[in-house]
Amino acid sequence: MQLRSTFMGVLASFFWAPWSLGAAAEAQTSGGSKADGGLQKMDFGKTPEGMPVELYVLKNGRMTVKVMTYGATITELHVPDRRGTPGDVVLGFDNLEGYLGNNPYFGATIGRVANRIAGGKFTLEGKGYALALNQGPNSLHGGRKGFDKVLWKAEEISGPDGPAVKLTYLSRDGEEGYPGHLSASVTFTVKDDDELRIDDTATTDKATPVNLTNHSYFNLAGPASGTILDHELMLAADTYTPVDDTLIPTGEIASVRETPLDFTTPTRIGARIDQLKGDPGGYDHNFVLRGGEESPALAARLYDPKSGRVMEVFTTEPGVQFYSGNFLDGTLKGRGGVVYRKHQGLCLEAQHFPDSVHHANFPSIILRPSMTYTQTTIYRFSTR
Ligand code: GLA
Repeated sequence: MQLRSTFMGVLASFFWAPWSLGAAAEAQTSGGSKADGGLQKMDFGKTPEGMPVELYVLKNGRMTVKVMTYGATITELHVPDRRGTPGDVVLGFDNLEGYLGNNPYFGATIGRVANRIAGGKFTLEGKGYALALNQGPNSLHGGRKGFDKVLWKAEEISGPDGPAVKLTYLSRDGEEGYPGHLSASVTFTVKDDDELRIDDTATTDKATPVNLTNHSYFNLAGPASGTILDHELMLAADTYTPVDDTLIPTGEIASVRETPLDFTTPTRIGARIDQLKGDPGGYDHNFVLRGGEESPALAARLYDPKSGRVMEVFTTEPGVQFYSGNFLDGTLKGRGGVVYRKHQGLCLEAQHFPDSVHHANFPSIILRPSMTYTQTTIYRFSTR
């Protein structure tokens, strides 16, 4: 094992100590100096099966992103606030044990199919498939052991855009009830203009539904700062997909106008959240984006007045699930012992629509052997 000098070559190896083990070394290298860049790999513990988990630290300009091979998960994401002070803006745990325990998908890659499939059943090419029901009557986020709970293989592929790591996973035919061997990859690239780019691909040897996303919980003021209710959000969506009591779309594509879901102009998240019915209450909706498809289009702009941080989301996907951390209930202790309460973080999951397998009017999520699935989502940070 060796540190491969990547983006900034010699400069990077000057700033970064080569191999270092465990969390102590990790703590030493977090933050870092300004104009450096590079990639560092660390041990991040072992799965219950004894398999080693790796943590990659990608650093470019003022941004540092940590990604681990368990669940192809973003564990930390540091960007400066308006004073230039870097800080972590995602929820997560101190160590692997946290992620292995009761973990609401913090930072993880979700697959084979993100969000819900009604009744955990679907029919494809005349054959019925039954998935595990892991949330009430439905299958959620790929099932009991989705892509967030498997070990991915990492490869450093840094190039002119910046330090990058490509994670690959082969999901076997029948895994979690899905048909076909699916070969998936997720590439994380940290660019020098405070941008994290995530490129996903997948191919299959049998027709199968595929809908990948990243499930990071953001709090631009920092995960210890309280709720995200004072963040302002803009969504490039005029319509959304209404859901039933179990969060399954009815199939309708409805206008956001004159509803608490109208984020076409920047609006404080807490302003109308109490108008949303349901238990636990809050935003957990798929918004239909205005467009993109080929090149990533602006989907969302999030602003935190306290820190001045702005996050823009660009994606090739047709939808974004805006989830306001409603199921966080104060029972989880995250990084640094911080208790995560309701609405302490929010997700903007770029993806195809929930339960697409049951709605012919939604963009299809069926991948066939002749096709390659791709999706690109960019999180771009700045300050105001
Ligand atoms: C998604 C879903 C939510 C919830 C979270 C994970 O955002 O839409 O309902 O399941 O994931 O807790």
